[in-house]
Amino acid sequence: ELYREFNNLTELERTVEEILNVKKVIVVKGDVSKDEYVFDSLGSATAKLIEGILQDGYKIGVTGGRTLSAIADEMSLNTKRKNLTVIPARGSLGRSVGYQSNSIASKLAQKLNAEYQILPVPDTASEEAMKMLMDNQEVKEAYEKLKNLDVLIFGVGRADVMTGRRGSSDELKSSILKSGAVAEAFGHYFNIKGEKVYHSQSIGITISEFLKIPNVIGVAGGDEKSEAIMSISTLRSDMVLVIDESAAKRIVNIR
Ligand code: G3H
Repeated sequence: ELYREFNNLTELERTVEEILNVKKVIVVKGDVSKDEYVFDSLGSATAKLIEGILQDGYKIGVTGGRTLSAIADEMSLNTKRKNLTVIPARGSLGRSVGYQSNSIASKLAQKLNAEYQILPVPDTASEEAMKMLMDNQEVKEAYEKLKNLDVLIFGVGRADVMTGRRGSSDELKSSILKSGAVAEAFGHYFNIKGEKVYHSQSIGITISEFLKIPNVIGVAGGDEKSEAIMSISTLRSDMVLVIDESAAKRIVNIR
């Protein structure tokens, strides 16, 4: 297939929207894998988008990761909205601290002059441990709020990368990958068709909750994430995706 060229990013955005069949795709110039500063562009594009969506009293869920941390960094301080709450959408302790959903939620809350609800649970723990954690008042409160999110901003990862980062055992890692997982988002693993093949035991939003959140925004960059983005895009046609040019072009050309 001939490599397709685009005159501008808007044309590329509309083409990716059509291919993925989602409401809106925002494409920022460049490639995060080649230039670190493209994370800032993803962050500021997403921050602007969020500012346009927010209403007084909104509850905003965030996941973890390098990409999400750029959004918190790029968010400006001048929101006019009141009584906002930021909540980590999944447990996260165990990642490098700046990229944990708790850290990102607290940073974003500072920027938005919002309340911040910590979700003090690890990314991976046994089922019994999670049951015990659910008795904790702070965890209970966060979990209740998660069921009523107005906005979710989530990172999209490759399944192979995320099994490594979550410190899964070799056995679990290979079983997740053998089940066809290509994508990871909010602790869930999906195959290329967007079917859930595994989810981490950690406390956090579930798929059925994800499907009910009024505004969902997925953010990812790098052409190596193109399959992961394609998988996630099938979950909801009313999602907004903020991606970089390299991911967008790969999506167009591997169709
Ligand atoms: O769930 C996916 C990850 O949050 C993506 O993390 O932004 O560091 O690639 P990343």
